[in-house]
Amino acid sequence: MTDKRSSGAVVLVGCGRLGSAILEGWLATETVAPADLIVLTPSEKPAAEAARAVGAAINPPHGALGRARAVVLAVKPAKWRDALEPVLGGLPPEAVIVSVMAGVSADGIAALAARPVARVMPTTGVAQARGVAALWSADAAARETARRLFGAIADVVDLDREALMDAATAVAGSAPAFIHAFVQALARAGEGQGLSPEAAGRLARGALRSAGAGADTGEPLDALIARIASPGGTTRAGLDAMQATGDLDRAAEAAVEAAVQRAKTISG
Ligand SMILES: NC(=O)c1ccc[n+]([C@@H]2O[C@H](COP(=O)([O-])OP(=O)(O)OC[C@H]3O[C@@H](n4cnc5c(N)ncnc54)[C@H](OP(=O)(O)O)[C@@H]3O)[C@@H](O)[C@H]2O)c1
Repeated sequence: MTDKRSSGAVVLVGCGRLGSAILEGWLATETVAPADLIVLTPSEKPAAEAARAVGAAINPPHGALGRARAVVLAVKPAKWRDALEPVLGGLPPEAVIVSVMAGVSADGIAALAARPVARVMPTTGVAQARGVAALWSADAAARETARRLFGAIADVVDLDREALMDAATAVAGSAPAFIHAFVQALARAGEGQGLSPEAAGRLARGALRSAGAGADTGEPLDALIARIASPGGTTRAGLDAMQATGDLDRAAEAAVEAAVQRAKTISG
């Protein structure tokens, strides 16, 4: 679901790794008309300059915030108060705050902003409109605003409790990096079997792309695995060996648990 209705501006606060990805996704999908986009960024960013070139306002005078209907807060958790406080005075009272930050509670933001808050935890795949995003809000209208902003660039997964946001952060926001780390380990294992680093790296990346294409079909993961692992074949032998060690499950549990714990302490 896109939000092409021009009922006010969308303010993106922070245009770093995730903010840029969101901006690129919005422009590619026309989720927000460029004329309705305001980007606040302390330093010049390529994604913001690309948005400016098609009509978005970058660091406009504060008066421009008066037509905002939503503010997407995409700064580091330790910086959110400094970033949001100066913006608040210029916002209409009904503007919704959408936080994509890990580990910052909606109540904490609402206490400062005195406005409805939604939390969204996206992956940077939103840049290609292929992200996934967990969504939670206690406020139905804020939830819908966030869904319209992210629905065209991510598969939006509704959470029924904010407490699950930290787990979603680990399994979505952080997990692409965990998966890349596993693919690196696979490439190193391939090198151990005699492949050159260049060949092992390309083969492992290609395998990741193939796995991603499989995931995009929406088929259950068990079915995707079964399609590749014919009985008695090489893949089955590899999977059996991997499962026998139990190390994969332990590594995934350790990574998710550490990310969840970090989310609980990150906002400073
Ligand atoms: N990266 C991910 O994959 C990912 C995934 C899910 C959630 N998140 C969340 O997204 C947030 C941003 O992460 P990130 O990886 O994008 O970090 P990042 O690359 O460091 O980006 C943060 C940006 O915030 C900007 N900023 C700092 N103070 C500001 C202010 N007062 N007003 C406006 N912008 C300000 C910084 O601008 P300058 O560069 O000019 O200093 C920087 O570009 C974090 O809270 C993180 O938890 C990230």
